[in-house]
Amino acid sequence: MLNVPAPDLGDIAVVLGTRPEIIKLAGIIRHLGPRARTVHTGQHWDDDMAGKFFRDLGIGEPDVRLETVEGQIRGLQVGNGISELAAHFQDHPVTAVIVQGDTNSTTIGAQAANYLDVPVVHVEAGLRSHDRAMPEEINRLVVGAIADLHCAATPQNAENLLREGIEPSRVLITGNTVVEATLLARELPHREVQDLVSEKALQEGYVLVTIHRPENTDTAESLERVVSALSTVGCNVVFTLHPRTAAAVERFGLQRYLDGFEVLTGVGHADFLELASHARLLVSDSGGVQEEVTVLKKPLLVVRRSTERPESIDAGFSRLITPDLDLASEISAALADTSWSDALRDRPSPYGDGTASRQIAERSRSLLGRETALPVV
Ligand code: UD1
Ligand code: UDP
Repeated sequence: MLNVPAPDLGDIAVVLGTRPEIIKLAGIIRHLGPRARTVHTGQHWDDDMAGKFFRDLGIGEPDVRLETVEGQIRGLQVGNGISELAAHFQDHPVTAVIVQGDTNSTTIGAQAANYLDVPVVHVEAGLRSHDRAMPEEINRLVVGAIADLHCAATPQNAENLLREGIEPSRVLITGNTVVEATLLARELPHREVQDLVSEKALQEGYVLVTIHRPENTDTAESLERVVSALSTVGCNVVFTLHPRTAAAVERFGLQRYLDGFEVLTGVGHADFLELASHARLLVSDSGGVQEEVTVLKKPLLVVRRSTERPESIDAGFSRLITPDLDLASEISAALADTSWSDALRDRPSPYGDGTASRQIAERSRSLLGRETALPVV
């Protein structure tokens, strides 16, 4: 363990490892107060992807930081993480463990807890893409089998769980914590992009892009499809670069396409949302961004084979652009369709009313053990 746990560690572990988990769990951590024990797996380790978010979101440094996950391949991230975390929980017991979403850190937290008979609360439960080639889909299925309390963001997510045989009393529909995270971040200062969004060239309009999924970054062809399409649409492109994508651009020699874009790294949450709220269009494969556009009321093209977030599409905020479609034509058509953006202005978000973090913190406080993990309804 890198950090020796302090004797006054909280008894509800919130296990998190990647940028979106920090963003989406910060509200729950704040609501739990001194009972929260933040455990950072180290899956994302750059300050730009982790440390900056802990600071900006006001949740301080993690209480515990695993040291055997960072920079490992998937199998070792998960295997090492479970061992190290189970050893920590054995030495420093907890009453419950909260995990979020579908990352390798999510499955680490859920498995380490369950094998020690500690109740698991799964935030953002019940998403399914039905694409087993995605590591995230496997993580969702594993955590879905393990969790004691499933906090589903939407009725469709709850329906997926019930169809898989989860007892209804273990499923709670809470909305997604990203709603309050987005509303809060919009009140924070957006320091670093202030000048950029005021630039004359960008005032004419821009597409905001963030891409990181293996399906778009693991082969030269898939990544070139995205960046070459963006380079031909005749609109400014602001490209916020994920480290996985930065490595792929370099590995596949695709830098020439990015030379024409405004490329940004290390963009914090408030800054990213500021960029999003001024964009004419977003293009992304991000999960969180599919949800955030429903709060910001912005149009989004989702560059993916499939999505586990149909609610954003059904509500009209997102359109799924599968690999068989011509991406440049789709972007151009979306930019030309000003009625799309106008129609979103007053549309409600399908992801809830901004109270998910409070609801989940309250339920987690009342868990006393696996047998008593059923929610009191
Ligand atoms: C992970 C999650 C994904 C989530 C994303 C959020 C899994 C299987 N994937 O994907 O669901 O959408 O986080 O951003 O858990 N890297 C760095 N520095 C960092 C972090 C990553 O350089 O701080 C680079 C490394 O080259 C690393 C690669 O990014 O090998 C991939 O990182 P990893 O955490 O394995 O997966 P993500 O693609 O970030
Ligand atoms: N985000 C950010 N800076 C960026 C790009 C994204 O703060 O440069 C935020 C975004 O607003 C969202 C979250 O990161 O809240 C999404 O993370 P990511 O796309 O890495 O993961 P996913 O949601 O796909 O799991």
